[in-house]
Amino acid sequence: MNGSVNVSAGRSYLAIPGPSVIPDQVLQAMHRASPNIYAGELVEMTATLIPDLRRVARTQHEVAIYIANGHGAWEAALQNTLQPGDRVLVPSSGRFGIGWAEMAQGLGVETDILDFGNHAPWDMDRIAEALAADTGHRIKAVLAVHADTSSSIRNDVAALRRALDAAGHPALLMADCIASLGCDRFEMDGWGVDVMVTACQKGLMVPAGLGIVFFNARAAEARRALPRISRYWDWEPRANPEEFYQYFGGTAPTHHLYGLRAALDMIHAEGMEAVWARHAHLARAIWAACEAWGADGPLRMNVPDRALRSHAVTALRIGSPLGTELRMWLEQNLGLTLGIGLGMAPPRSPDWHGFFRLGHMGHVNGHMIMGLLGGIETGLRALDIPHGKGALAAAAAALAGA
Ligand SMILES: Cc1ncc(COP(=O)(O)O)c(C=O)c1O
Repeated sequence: MNGSVNVSAGRSYLAIPGPSVIPDQVLQAMHRASPNIYAGELVEMTATLIPDLRRVARTQHEVAIYIANGHGAWEAALQNTLQPGDRVLVPSSGRFGIGWAEMAQGLGVETDILDFGNHAPWDMDRIAEALAADTGHRIKAVLAVHADTSSSIRNDVAALRRALDAAGHPALLMADCIASLGCDRFEMDGWGVDVMVTACQKGLMVPAGLGIVFFNARAAEARRALPRISRYWDWEPRANPEEFYQYFGGTAPTHHLYGLRAALDMIHAEGMEAVWARHAHLARAIWAACEAWGADGPLRMNVPDRALRSHAVTALRIGSPLGTELRMWLEQNLGLTLGIGLGMAPPRSPDWHGFFRLGHMGHVNGHMIMGLLGGIETGLRALDIPHGKGALAAAAAALAGA
């Protein structure tokens, strides 16, 4: 740092798009001795998580919890609805759409991938064409990533339901809300989503380790029509356990459950509408700064159209090697960690170093976002990266509502 004074000591800030910042309340709730898993407080507390998870997902339907990350939740949704030889349609706006399709391929499911690249949203006309062309209804499910964390594009899940209905197509609508739940508005029942998958380490503010699957009666019917199902992945006993161990197919993730309880208390004390409004308002401050920086110099937002941007993550490009240099400088000098770019260039290619992402999901507020943006402005100056002026003022104005 200029003047060789390092100012990285102090509380560090992990501003990557998951895992997100863990609230002290969550950490404190997890800091305890192992509870009894056969009776008592843990058993009673776990039952209270289910209705509160439903309120986050805006659903009246079933909830199954897995000791897993997001990949595990993907796998669970596929295992309970599909069998080898079935076909799925996957409209993709980034790396995670492709990733879910690859999981399906691993299970012997055929995938029709509509790849809209890393910069564009779903083309609803092409999706409608693909559904109309499937006159034999071979497509059993549409796999839809709500906010793709690699590109930061947020797609219109409700429009997908309208397309399915307009085509009279019976495929299940399955949504990946791993990056969006608890950040961007999502209405499982209101939007006609049959299966929704999420994980606890982003908007739910808990350390990675819980994959959560929500499913409605149509999806439950698809599960019952399968000739066989893996005992471990079967969502039925997890959603309707007769014994406590069935919630988790074995030993409960004890401490994660206490953490999740604390996180859900925080989310519902704030209120879902307020949580979404906070994320939207903070995102607008970030966009204002990024747009100002981008007015001069190499920084560009990946998604030009504000209406298509996630409120939880922002993908940027700045040219190689500046992306990596900026990330390294901020971590080493300010104690601020930004996310790597994902899916924009092959990992070992020189271009890989030209991208980065900002995570702004979960436990984030106005002063943290101003700290994040102030940090980036400092890094741009320290590294002599040309950038437009007035970014922090623009962000402050957006936050102040000016
Ligand atoms: C949209 C989306 N889907 C799926 C995943 C995979 O989740 P995990 O890394 O927890 O397995 C992620 C992770 O970042 C994600 O952002």
